[in-house]
Amino acid sequence: MMLLEDLPGVGPATAEKLREAGYNSVEAIAVASPGELVGAAEVGESTAAKIIAAARQAADIGGFETGDQVLERRKLVGKVTTSSKSFNELLGGGMETQSIVEVYGEFGSGKTQVAHQLAVNVQLPSELGGLSGSAVIIDTENTFRPERIAQMVNGLKPYGDAVWDSSEFLKNIHVARAYNSNHQMLLVESAMELAEKLREAEKPVRLMIVDSVTAHFRAEYVGRGTLADRQQKLNKHLHDLVRFADLNNALVLVTNQVMAKPDTFFGDPTKPVGGHVLGHTATFRLYLRKSKGEKRIARLVDSPNLPDGEAVFSVTTEGLRD
Ligand code: GTP
Ligand code: MG
Repeated sequence: MMLLEDLPGVGPATAEKLREAGYNSVEAIAVASPGELVGAAEVGESTAAKIIAAARQAADIGGFETGDQVLERRKLVGKVTTSSKSFNELLGGGMETQSIVEVYGEFGSGKTQVAHQLAVNVQLPSELGGLSGSAVIIDTENTFRPERIAQMVNGLKPYGDAVWDSSEFLKNIHVARAYNSNHQMLLVESAMELAEKLREAEKPVRLMIVDSVTAHFRAEYVGRGTLADRQQKLNKHLHDLVRFADLNNALVLVTNQVMAKPDTFFGDPTKPVGGHVLGHTATFRLYLRKSKGEKRIARLVDSPNLPDGEAVFSVTTEGLRD
C-alpha cells in the first residue's frame, strides 16, 4: 500500500497533519480539493494541487473508459431477486451488481430484513434469481441473526431435487462486527482481500452488506463543527464501497436510518443520515416505510435509468413476499 509520505511534497510533518485531519490514504487525498488540503496541512495552494495530482495518478481514479468498454462491463451486471415480484419490478428485475443500493427508513421499516433476504438469495442459482455467490456482511449494530437466515432458507420454494440446507447458506455468509467507524472502514479492506481469495471459488463474493452504513459516523461525530470531517470520512468509505462493487462485480447494499428533523414542519419530516454525500454515491435509493401489519412500502428515489415508483411487499416469517 502506498503511504502519504510517498507523495512528492509530503514530508513526515505534513503527513501527520493530513492524518490528523482524517486523510488516511492516498485515495482520500485524490478526491480532496486544494482548498481542503491547504486548511488541513498548512501548505500553499500550488503544493496542495501538486500533491492531489500525484495522489490521483497513484490511486488511478478519475480515469476514462470508452462507451463500448462501459457497455462490456455493463453486460456483466447481474441481478438478485428480492423474493417479491412487485419489489423486483420496481427495481427493473432485482438489485443490480456494480451498484450501491441504499435502503433507508425508520426503525423497524425492514432494512435489516431486506439485507438478510438478499444474503440468502445471492446464493441461489441464476434461474432462481441469484448469482451463485456468497455474501459479506459488515454488521455495525449487532443485528445479524443466523436464525433468521435459517427461517428464510426454510421458506425457499422447493426446486427440482435441490435441497435447501440452511447450514450451507450460513457457510457462505461472512460476517464481521464493526466496533467504530474506523474499524468499519478497515473491514472493507479485509472484505476486499476475502473477495480476492474467493474469486475462483465455487461461490465468489457477489454481495456486500453494510448494516448500518451511517450509525457509527452519526454517533461519533456530533455537533456542527465535526460535520465536515464526518462527511469527508463517509465519502471515503463510500468510495471504497464503489470500488468493491466494480472490482468484484458485486452488489453493495447499505442501510441508513432516517433521523427526525425537528425543524421541519412541512413535507417529509425525515431525512436520511449522510445527506447528499450518500445520495450522490448510491446508484439506487430505496425509502422503506411501514404499512399495515407485515406490509411494507418501498419507494425508489432518484434512479439513473428507472422511473420513480413504489412497491408493496410483506415481511413474513419465511422472508420477503408480495
Ligand atoms: P432498525 O435497524 O432499527 O433501523 O430497523 P430495520 O429497518 O432494520 O428493521 P428490521 O429489518 O429489523 O425489521 C424488523 C421488523 O421485521 C419487525 O418489527 C417485524 O415486523 C419484521 N420481522 C422480523 N423478523 C420477523 C419474523 O420472523 N417474522 C415476521 N413475520 N416478521 C418479522
Ligand atoms: Mg436494522
